[in-house]
Amino acid sequence: MMRRLLFAEESVMSNALHLLEDLEPSIQEFRDAVLSGLGTRQKTLPCKFFYDADGSRLFDEICNLPEYYPTRTECRLLGEHAGEIAALVGPRARLIEFGSGAGVKIRLLLGPLDRPAAYVPIDISRGHLLAAAAELALDFSGLKIMPICADYTKPFALPALSGSRPGIDVGFFPGSTIGNFTPDEARGFLSRVGRMLGRGSAMVVGVDMPKDESILLSAYNDKAGVTAAFNLNLLIRVNRELGGNFVLDRFVHEARWNGVLGRIEMHLVSRCDQEVRIGSDRFTFAANETIHTENSYKYTIDQFQAMAIGSGYKPKAAWIDEAGLFSVHMLEVHE
Ligand code: TRP
Repeated sequence: MMRRLLFAEESVMSNALHLLEDLEPSIQEFRDAVLSGLGTRQKTLPCKFFYDADGSRLFDEICNLPEYYPTRTECRLLGEHAGEIAALVGPRARLIEFGSGAGVKIRLLLGPLDRPAAYVPIDISRGHLLAAAAELALDFSGLKIMPICADYTKPFALPALSGSRPGIDVGFFPGSTIGNFTPDEARGFLSRVGRMLGRGSAMVVGVDMPKDESILLSAYNDKAGVTAAFNLNLLIRVNRELGGNFVLDRFVHEARWNGVLGRIEMHLVSRCDQEVRIGSDRFTFAANETIHTENSYKYTIDQFQAMAIGSGYKPKAAWIDEAGLFSVHMLEVHE
């Protein structure tokens, strides 16, 4: 179904920040996803629903945890190579960020970029998106910011540019969010975005890499319990928004490394035999049965570049930190 799109022509300078488009998922969509996810043999809940206001805040906290190496490693890589990225991108580029969150990482690219034409942050969490955009506007006062509230796993349109295209479009997909898709979904997403941006456009993608299992497990199960709170927040959200009756201390957060598939898995483990109601629906849980809430696939440079090539891109550069923890890829849309 095509929904009505609203685009603002004005830059943030005029009228504070208004949303260009509001496609925040509806309650109905959330309910359908939850009921169908809990109705399968391996119960699942889709990870995009982690990011309500509380979830987005908890996620920002995860990014600052000592155990969670991806954010600081990626920020260091972006900071070190932003000059090279800016040179590859050229002047007057339009930046489109998928899952812009707190809007921290884009600042590292915006600094060295030559007169960026616009910044289009896309996020599923409306409040978080607007707050981050407003803050960015204070620090980059001449920058045209065009926020879109949307689930970027679904089709949506980019704002039309008036006049001739000044520079290239650059997609920005940091945080190894690409790893939260299955490989098939990741290829589907990359192909779709490539077609949307068009031939000759660029993509900058942050990709977490395989490493010692103990480093991975502690990154997804921190001592302070923030990741656990983040995972459990999904149940709080179901209770609040869908009339569920999950008892929180009957579930525990667990992170598992799946070596065969090369991914971290996040689960909520039922501590006992129990029944949970959501509205008029009932779901039974056996003790130790889990709800699988998230995957985080890890890719080597070669694995990710092969995936990018198969999705219509040409790898232009890849940067890795000294410890080989994390990578930042620059790709060109080829097809
Ligand atoms: N893209 C992040 C990652 O895969 C998302 C993430 C980090 C996450 N920690 C999490 C998702 C904990 C769910 C639970 O690293």
